[in-house]
Formats: sequence, C-alpha cells, structure tokens
Amino acid sequence: MAPPAEHASLAAYQWLVGPEGRKLLDQLEGQDPLAARLVARLHQELGPERAAVVIQQLQLRPRAREKFPMAQAMFFTRRGLEQATDWAVACYKARRFPRGESRADLCCGLGGDALGLATTGPVLAVDRDPVCCLLAEANLAAARDFLRKQHPPQELFPVEVQCRDVLQAKLGQQAAWHLDADRRIGGKRVYRQQQTALGWQTVEELLRRNPHGAVKLSPMDEPPLEWEPRATWEWISRSGHCRQLVAWFGSLAPAPGERIATRLLPAGAVSFQGVPLPAQEAALGIRRYLYEPDPAVLAAGLEYALAAHLHLAAVAPGGVYLTGEEPVEHALLAGFEVLEVLPFDRRQLKRTLSRGDYRVVEVKKRGVDVSPEELLRKFRKRGSRDVVLVLARVVDRVLAALCRRLPRSSKK
Ligand SMILES: C[S@@+](CC[C@H](N)C(=O)[O-])C[C@H]1O[C@@H](n2cnc3c(N)ncnc32)[C@H](O)[C@@H]1O
Repeated sequence: MAPPAEHASLAAYQWLVGPEGRKLLDQLEGQDPLAARLVARLHQELGPERAAVVIQQLQLRPRAREKFPMAQAMFFTRRGLEQATDWAVACYKARRFPRGESRADLCCGLGGDALGLATTGPVLAVDRDPVCCLLAEANLAAARDFLRKQHPPQELFPVEVQCRDVLQAKLGQQAAWHLDADRRIGGKRVYRQQQTALGWQTVEELLRRNPHGAVKLSPMDEPPLEWEPRATWEWISRSGHCRQLVAWFGSLAPAPGERIATRLLPAGAVSFQGVPLPAQEAALGIRRYLYEPDPAVLAAGLEYALAAHLHLAAVAPGGVYLTGEEPVEHALLAGFEVLEVLPFDRRQLKRTLSRGDYRVVEVKKRGVDVSPEELLRKFRKRGSRDVVLVLARVVDRVLAALCRRLPRSSKK
C-alpha cells in the first residue's frame, strides 16, 4: 500500500510536475484511483512515494473541477485544494485591484488566488512551503496554457513565485497585496483570523508597509469591532454557498466601515452594500410573496438593510424570511409566490395538499426543529402541482406556506 501523499517529499512532487509525472497522469486519466490492481502496479513501478502522489492527483483532479475549469492539468494536495479560492471568486476579487499594476499574493498556497489575481495584473506570489510554491508555479503554467486555448484566448499577467515568509516579502513596489493565512493549526480548522499563526498584528504590520491590502477570512467570521471601521467587508457567495469574507483596506476599500454582500453568477456579480440595520417592524405573518436572502446577505447581516431598500418586512422579529405584497426581483433574493398559508400541523397540511392537488418538491425551514428530508419523503408523492413548503417561526407559532418558486433574477 502507498503511504499517504501528505507525507510525500518535495522530490516526489518535483517528479510529479515534471514530464514523466505529467505523462503518466495523462495516461491514467479517468481510471479508478482506488482500484487495487492499479495501486499495486503503481506501487511496484514507481515506489511508494511517487505512487502516493499519483494516486492523490487521480483522486483530487475530478473533485477540483468544481473550483477550477483547468483542474485536469493542475496539481493539488488535499489540504491545498480545500483551502484554495476557486477560479470564479479569485477572478472577481482580482477586479478590485488596480488593472495592470503589480500585486503580492501573500500565502499563495497552490495558487488559487494567484491565478485570479494574474488576470488583472502581474503577481508576486509568496508562500513558505516549498511544495506549495512548486505546485503554484505548475498550476500557473497549466492555467496559462488552458486559457490560451479558450475562445477567445485569454492571457495571464506574469507571476513570480517566491518561497519565503510573508513578512520577508517586499511590498513597497507592489500596488496592493492579498493575504490568505492558513486557517488550520495542528491540523484543526479555526474560524477566527485572530487564532491563526498570522493574526491581526501581522495584518497591521503589512498595512504599515503598504496600506492597500485584502485579507481573506472565513465566511463565518465577524469583523473584529476595532477593525470594522478600517475596512470594507465583503461576503461572497457562489452556487448557493457563502464562500469567503474579504476585508478590503486602503484604496481597495470602496467604503470603509460598510459591508457588501456579493453573489457571483455566470453572467457577473450582483452586490448590495450597506450597514446592518436593526429589524424594522415585522409582518408577523406571511404576505403574498416570500423571500429568502442569499447566504452572502445573511452572513453579512444585511438582510434588514436589503429589506428596507426593497420595501419588504421580516416575517417575524429576528427572522430571516422577508415578505411583501408585491413581487420583487433581486438576484440576492430567492422569491416565492405564496399559494396557501396554514399553521404547521401535519394533518392539516396533508388535507390542504390533497385538496389543492399539490406535491411538495422542496422543503425550506428556519428556526423550526423538523427534518426537511422526512417531510419531503412524506409529501412529495401526492398531487400534480409542484410546490415549495416553507416553514417559518413567527414568535410562538410555526407557519407553513405552500409556494411557487419565482424565476431567479440574474439582475438587481
Ligand atoms: C489558506 S492557504 C492559501 C490558499 C491560497 N490563497 C489559494 O487560493 O490557493 C495558506 C497558505 O499560507 C502559507 N503560510 C502560512 N503562514 C505563512 C507565512 N508566515 N509565510 C508564508 N506563507 C505562510 C501556508 O503554507 C499555506 O500554503
């Protein structure tokens, strides 16, 4: 059996990204990396370490397609892939950097952010881990090659990878910098930047050297109170998940002290900017239309600011569902036309579904302790009219709304 690739040496990765490793990976594309015969053959032909890194790539490349269109030519470690910013998010962030001017990608890992940053300007990518630096270089070359073959072809700006500590990076000549410190200590994930080896003191030091920076954080992070007025805080979602929080400083910050919720769509990005507002007067019920804010809006705490902007009310005090009498189209809201509202009681729900010839195709709930899967199993077999069942707590009662999903807007 091959040892886990996590323990593989730099030399094994150097071989992997070289001509022999690449050729072998191309030949093995699509093969089951867990097939005993393949594992035994690779082990025998390559030795345990090289076999381990080859098997690892065969496992990780298909998974990485969700993040990178050029994944099939890239190189990963399990952890590096988990931590990498995906191509769509990285390209979006890169657009906030001054076009054509050089920028540093501090803690570049295997190059997720660096690839995106190189779409708008030259990059100095820095990481202290030699394996990361090697893979980042290989991935940048792979991306360059892939993008040149697209229609229309796309060119990346030059990227220099340096293997060193971020505090040794020369930031003076850079127009701006991006920092993505490791969120793991001793193999355990931590969600607060304060807990990482590179805490806010490092950010302070980097800002002292160059005031125009971006710090990638976990989407679950809240801006530390004393830092909140100094940056613009942007939560970015893609494909229904909030992917990351970015603190923008200096000239990269469009409005220090404010927050932005951004949803990335294939056609572009839709954002809402503001400061969290306390809940306005709640509807204490469900009106003709019901709305669920995008995960980026919820993570940013901007749901009531967005509600006020769009003249919507919260269904309940402190609740996240919004409601109104008029249809509202906004890409940061999933909208539903409400067909029926009733107290959440399974028997009553069953009768209403039969009477209306409804079939539940999706269950959504907030603040209600039920299993959506169980409800879906129970109610999806009846009726011919598809409905979404939304359960919302309104103070001490739970309401069940049978809704028709409105087509999702890709515009504001
Ligand atoms: C979260 S990963 C970066 C992921 C990267 N942004 C991407 O999109 O692929 C963090 C990286 O920080 C590096 N790192 C942590 N502390 C560092 C330091 N003091 N100097 C340089 N690199 C460091 C680690 O080696 C690791 O590769």
